[in-house]
Amino acid sequence: MLFSLAILLFISLTVTAITDLQANCTGPDRRYNGTTCYVLYAYSATQDVSKISCNHYLGYSGHLVHIRNAVVQNVVHQVITNYVAFTIYCAWTGLELLNSSASHTDSSNWGYYHRNGTFFSQTYLPWLSGHPSTNLDYNRAMYCKNEDRLLSYQGSNLYSYVCEYEEAQKQPVSNLEQKCVNLMSGSVFTSFVNDVCYVLQSAVSKNYNDAKGSCNALSGYNGHLAHLRTVEKLWIAEALRLVAGASYVRLGIEQTDLSSTNASIGWYLTTPTNQSMPANFLPWATSNPTTNKRTIAVVAGYPKSFATVDSTTAYPFLCQYGRSTLSASTGAPGKSTFFL
Ligand SMILES: *[C@@H]1O[C@H](CO)[C@@H](O)[C@H](O)[C@H]1NC(C)=O
Ligand SMILES: *[C@@H]1O[C@H](CO)[C@@H](O)[C@H](O)[C@H]1NC(C)=O
Ligand SMILES: *[C@@H]1O[C@H](CO)[C@@H](O)[C@H](O)[C@H]1NC(C)=O
Ligand SMILES: *[C@@H]1O[C@H](CO)[C@@H](O)[C@H](O)[C@H]1NC(C)=O
Ligand SMILES: *[C@@H]1O[C@H](CO)[C@@H](O)[C@H](O)[C@H]1NC(C)=O
Ligand SMILES: *[C@@H]1O[C@H](CO)[C@@H](O)[C@H](O)[C@H]1NC(C)=O
Repeated sequence: MLFSLAILLFISLTVTAITDLQANCTGPDRRYNGTTCYVLYAYSATQDVSKISCNHYLGYSGHLVHIRNAVVQNVVHQVITNYVAFTIYCAWTGLELLNSSASHTDSSNWGYYHRNGTFFSQTYLPWLSGHPSTNLDYNRAMYCKNEDRLLSYQGSNLYSYVCEYEEAQKQPVSNLEQKCVNLMSGSVFTSFVNDVCYVLQSAVSKNYNDAKGSCNALSGYNGHLAHLRTVEKLWIAEALRLVAGASYVRLGIEQTDLSSTNASIGWYLTTPTNQSMPANFLPWATSNPTTNKRTIAVVAGYPKSFATVDSTTAYPFLCQYGRSTLSASTGAPGKSTFFL
């Protein structure tokens, strides 16, 4: 009797020790190891699509897998091997080339990205020999099971991918995160990062003034054309631009002094409602800025991505949504949406 009680107690203790993530990390395509749930997406996607698709579990800032040591390598190998519905050879990881102007074959020029655009450099990099490749287009890395190695490749190729969800990243799931993830479909691409939802509708193009008043996809939240104030946020925007296949993506930055003949100065972050703020982060693309083009779009060439574009041409545009208008009007504490 006492013995069975002890067993019951032991079982209930064991059960309560299982985390939400662990409890939900079941199925033929996933595995819990250490404090992380690894999920294989067994179908095919570009690396760009893969990195905005790690949304199996909300509240964990899911990202493409970081193969940071031999244990993770082993787990990824097992997840791919154990998936029997069909055979998978390679899967995208979160490893990317850091600086396209620096050597591609220098391993210290590669890093694992979190979904917020921050990377960490890594010394455990089990490359296949001949990798990273000297091919300048090979700026992403995948893990291949048969070689049990990392291979550099072009991110536009279609492969499976492995996402990672870490206990340490756990946050309460907000209504905005839920809405942000639900909004993604067809031609609408989203990324939820640090309580901000970024939205790019690849099928909708507008001139600057119309775009400025069109960030209304999530009612109840403050929306405006995106303000990219750091290279990390630029990374998020570049990911969405690539997924959308857009050459130009408008931002909420304008040169307000229409008489200015110096394209290097006088840029302001704007919203439809708030006072403009000086834009200090201006990573110009090659041959930019150009005079008499008074708005800015993200173009290829990350991390030198800002191009001046004229305000009347219609382009896709990147919106961001922050704190709810309800909590703003009731004066609840929180960050001003403007500074996100
Ligand atoms: C995970 O499982 C718990 C029950 O253990 C459940 O309450 C929760 O909603 C699940 N979370 C997710 C993200 O699926
Ligand atoms: C994690 O995976 C490694 C490699 O497969 C294995 O040796 C280890 O036992 C696993 N750890 C846990 C806690 O399951
Ligand atoms: C990228 O590499 C080039 C060439 O080494 C260097 O001049 C430049 O400063 C680097 N850029 C960054 C952002 O590190
Ligand atoms: C991004 O996320 C990582 C992992 O949580 C964190 O270490 C880093 O500080 C974050 N960076 C920014 C800019 O928020
Ligand atoms: C434009 O402004 C910048 C910064 O004030 C200055 O360095 C540059 O000389 C100016 N260019 C012209 C053509 O006036
Ligand atoms: C910015 O706009 C929001 C509404 O979009 C408003 O709640 C907030 O008070 C404004 N902030 C400033 C500094 O004007």
